[in-house]
Amino acid sequence: MRALVTGCAGFIGSHVTEALLGAGHDVVGVDCFNDNYARREKLANLDQARDFSAFEFVPVDLARGDLADLVAGCGLVVHLAAEPGVRQSWGDRFDAYLRNNVMATHQLLRAVASHSDARLVYASSSSVYGQAETFPTREDALPRPLSPYGVTKLDAEHLCSLYHAHQGVRAVSLRLFSVYGPRQRPDMAFGRFIRAAAAGEPIRVFGDGEQRRDFTFVGDVVDAVLSAAVAEGVEGRVYNIGGGSQASVNEALARIREMLGRSLDIEHAPPEAGDVRSTGADTARARADLGFRPTTTLADGLAAHVAWILREDAPAYP
Ligand SMILES: NC(=O)c1ccc[n+]([C@@H]2O[C@H](COP(=O)([O-])OP(=O)(O)OC[C@H]3O[C@@H](n4cnc5c(N)ncnc54)[C@H](O)[C@@H]3O)[C@@H](O)[C@H]2O)c1
Repeated sequence: MRALVTGCAGFIGSHVTEALLGAGHDVVGVDCFNDNYARREKLANLDQARDFSAFEFVPVDLARGDLADLVAGCGLVVHLAAEPGVRQSWGDRFDAYLRNNVMATHQLLRAVASHSDARLVYASSSSVYGQAETFPTREDALPRPLSPYGVTKLDAEHLCSLYHAHQGVRAVSLRLFSVYGPRQRPDMAFGRFIRAAAAGEPIRVFGDGEQRRDFTFVGDVVDAVLSAAVAEGVEGRVYNIGGGSQASVNEALARIREMLGRSLDIEHAPPEAGDVRSTGADTARARADLGFRPTTTLADGLAAHVAWILREDAPAYP
């Protein structure tokens, strides 16, 4: 099969790309090297994919490019390209969220509707729920995003549903919960914590650290994407993809302290706008329809994340 992966140079996109190549598929990877973090990190994310002759990289901005030729002939489109991150979505950068999350998704859906009969797997987010009222949260809970980022992710999810219902696009949406592991974006909490701890620098924690997250290892997300690419009866549906490792930020910090064997210098900053108190995925639907069973515990996943950051050829980040 020929697959298109958007956002292939990103954290999750690079892992999905490698998994598809490893399974013997041809992969066309698209990325525009958006400036949310350093281009050199995204280029490094593609190192393993470039070893495969079945990998073709196309530098395109989805919001601007003509996507007809890209999607034609693809049996699968995995749409991971986006402007991610809750905190940065307030204020001046919001136009980038609109362009890279809403406009880009719309362009892609239009192209698929006209030029392809591919299954489209869209990476939505737990941010669509905002501060949920019930835990674990089911997919039919009323989505009430608490950040501009969450609004744009929900917007794009609705576009996928609309193009499925009215334009025949075979779309399925996965609401991913706090993904971590090797290559995690440098603005995300675990990577920031581990780097600061390893360097003996202060760790900035927003709020009291008692906020809880359903942490999901990137390998489990890849498995969910691969299932959603082929499962029957899933088109037009939305699935929670949560790792089942619910923990507070303070509990995660305690694990990092244990793994590194050193005390942590923690500084608390005021809670950031858009940070919810708790997330927790009810994954019964994903279990039933996608056979989703996350296998990586927080301890094992954090160990892999720490090992990746401490690897010998790790670049020095600011
Ligand atoms: N990381 C998480 O915890 C998490 C949680 C929920 C949902 N998600 C979603 O998963 C997806 C991947 O997130 P990530 O953490 O890997 O982020 P990332 O920033 O590492 O990857 C996204 C990639 O998309 C590219 N991109 C952005 N706009 C583009 C455009 N217009 N055209 C082409 N390429 C473009 C970026 O350059 C980047 O390489 C996103 O859709 C994000 O909203 C992530």
